Amino acid sequence: MNQQELIDLLPKIEEKLTLVVERNQGVIPYTTDEQGHYLDMTQQDPFWWTNGFWGGLLWQLYHLTKNDLFRQTAVQTEKTLAKNLVRAENLDHDNGFKWSLTAVARYRITGAQDAKNDGIIAAENLAGRFNLAGRFIRAWNDSGTGERSGGAIIDCLMNLPLLYWASAELNDPRFYQIAYAHAKTAQAHMVRPDGSVKHIIEFDPQTGEYLRSQGGQGYGHGSSWTRGQAWGIYGFALSYQYTQDRSFLATAQQIANYFIANIPATGLIPVDFRQPQAPWLEDSSAAAIAASGLITLAEDVDPADREIYLNAARRLLSTLAESSCDWRLETDNLLTKCTAAYHDEKREFPIIYGDYFFLEALEKLAGRDLNLW
Ligand code: GLY
Repeated sequence: MNQQELIDLLPKIEEKLTLVVERNQGVIPYTTDEQGHYLDMTQQDPFWWTNGFWGGLLWQLYHLTKNDLFRQTAVQTEKTLAKNLVRAENLDHDNGFKWSLTAVARYRITGAQDAKNDGIIAAENLAGRFNLAGRFIRAWNDSGTGERSGGAIIDCLMNLPLLYWASAELNDPRFYQIAYAHAKTAQAHMVRPDGSVKHIIEFDPQTGEYLRSQGGQGYGHGSSWTRGQAWGIYGFALSYQYTQDRSFLATAQQIANYFIANIPATGLIPVDFRQPQAPWLEDSSAAAIAASGLITLAEDVDPADREIYLNAARRLLSTLAESSCDWRLETDNLLTKCTAAYHDEKREFPIIYGDYFFLEALEKLAGRDLNLW
């Protein structure tokens, strides 16, 4: 599909998602049932890390259409999420995913002071997770799986914009300094020489010494989880935009070049670039996140390189639109075949963040996006 054909998908998405939002009032979706109807996370897990993406999708739709249905539903969704802010054990590095796309989005659009307040509280909690010895933001809280005070993950790069935003709003460099330090640590320890990235790294939380990496949600230790690569492209491109540190731009390009070189002939993105040939498992969300990140990266690279990244993004989006989208009006999801983790029992199903980044990327191509990062 060419650029215009991709842009022409936007009215089609608007038509479907208007029906989807009308029939899913009060719901915060993560995935669907077998019939393609959203399941409600407000019942299942109101604290789940992806619960901001529905609000983000609604704000993107409101920005695109000015249909008040989307604004009202976004505000309602944020109210449901607000209960997270008073439960310390439910706050973690994913504060960025939850509140950049909801409270901060509402503040950017409406100027509402209560929305700014919630965004700042989320940013303060995120900044409080910084480990001074290792200069990293701690990812998760302890759980049944053990003590996690030394863990940092590649996904966290997407949570740093909440800190950059808070610094600008409060005219206080502390948040920026923490985001910058974490991005530098991620650059030093998560990016391999070939441009692939690790998912999880572990430090001694007392001394800050780098200990080891872990396999995470990809195929195995030392492999190349594609959604992690996508977070890396997008996250370093954003840190470059906020800090103007050109080494972040170079790192984003390095990861992007690795990603582009590994896109299979089909254009369909596997869960892991180093997974075995069989079973061949896909993750459409990695394709959508990478596409959106590549478009952002293209804004800042040398003009001679721009089309390399834009062409790759268009190819990823076209493949999704033609092979991995459910365009039926009676189902709720757009993307099919997203995979949360390679070794999960359930794989290749609709996931809300896939739809969020698919829409965001198409809006960027049309020059009509709302920058929520
Ligand atoms: N942030 C976790 C994931 O990408 O699945």
